[in-house]
Amino acid sequence: MMADGPRRPVLRRPEAGPRVRQEPEAGPRVRQEAVDYCLGGAGDERTVVCNVERLDRLLFVPRVLRDVSEVDTGTRVAGGRISAPILVAPMGLQGLFHPEGELATAAAAAAAGLGHCLSTFCTSDPRAVTDGAGPGLRWRQVYVLRDWGLTRDLIAESEELGFQAIVCTVDVPIVGRRSRDENNGFDRFAAAPPALIRTRRFARLLAERGSTARELLAELFPNPSFTWDDVATVVESTTLPVVVKGILHPDDACRAIAMGAAGVVVSNHGGRQLDRSISSIDALPRVRDAVAGRIPVYFDSGVRHGMHIAKALALGARAVLVGRPVLMALAEGGRQRVTEVLETLTEQLVETMQLVGARTAEDLGGVDIRFATEAER
Ligand code: FNR
Repeated sequence: MMADGPRRPVLRRPEAGPRVRQEPEAGPRVRQEAVDYCLGGAGDERTVVCNVERLDRLLFVPRVLRDVSEVDTGTRVAGGRISAPILVAPMGLQGLFHPEGELATAAAAAAAGLGHCLSTFCTSDPRAVTDGAGPGLRWRQVYVLRDWGLTRDLIAESEELGFQAIVCTVDVPIVGRRSRDENNGFDRFAAAPPALIRTRRFARLLAERGSTARELLAELFPNPSFTWDDVATVVESTTLPVVVKGILHPDDACRAIAMGAAGVVVSNHGGRQLDRSISSIDALPRVRDAVAGRIPVYFDSGVRHGMHIAKALALGARAVLVGRPVLMALAEGGRQRVTEVLETLTEQLVETMQLVGARTAEDLGGVDIRFATEAER
């Protein structure tokens, strides 16, 4: 019988390898208010923290002897195929973090064969993004603004520029109360005016209403009277697939399907909206069950490691969107650093797939997974 070796100290909270760092070592260009705008969330930010903690607490029951010498992370999502189930989440005002803004994150995603979603409130000109980023799978996020003309223009522009899907974000009836921004007196639109204000229709509205660009933006967004009928109008306004982002309740997922959605994103907006919302990963299984394979379910909020991606897929997601780590990488080192972060996430995903016995991204859907018990934490 082998003698027991020396007892190793038990780590109470083992980390799954180095995470993709979220805290930036941002260059001198990036102001602390911008970093707070990115990393902050609603209320006391417990929801931001829980998104990651709940993902960390999931444990796999791995399978063995499945020949994982080659794994295929390729995945089909709305509008096309990507090399791994990862998209850059729509995040506004990326010019706050790097002069290249959204062009840099879109170029990095395209170079890696991954997806990118451009926000309604991008600082880069959308045409400069599609012209300059290279061929890639690109979604366009659209907020239904308090002006249908402007909203329809956003959709028409997205079609014209070759975006492959519209992402309609539905979880911002009002903007969540973010104390970091309040304490900093940070006005995001004043700090980085979005490209939208340079459009012809915005100029026309400005002239009609006689307001400043900042005042007009506040009149247009957010839109608290937005309802499911408006989602149906978005679907009717475009030939592109429409993915509804910001779903946590299974009944809302079914409603999105009834309105013609081509996918839903289970998301609590990275904990930026409702303080004490359910963690996004806790919402995923019920949404998966309610959707029952009728449309793909995507996931975001809290993804910081390739293993988190595998966990989301094991619980029914087709692909994940990654938010803050990408923006912080942009702040740290522009498109090069974003590329590195996306590569790291992909490598970590591949390693996890090999160790759990999944040869394809689809196989991950059949992997056994459960939350850690108290004793295992
Ligand atoms: C966002 N998010 C967001 N979502 C959206 O639909 N439209 C938008 O314009 C923005 N803007 C935005 C700005 C910043 C700075 C952040 C951090 C986030 C939410 C985003 O798409 C995504 O849901 C979350 O960021 C995902 O959570 P993690 O990965 O950041 O934890």
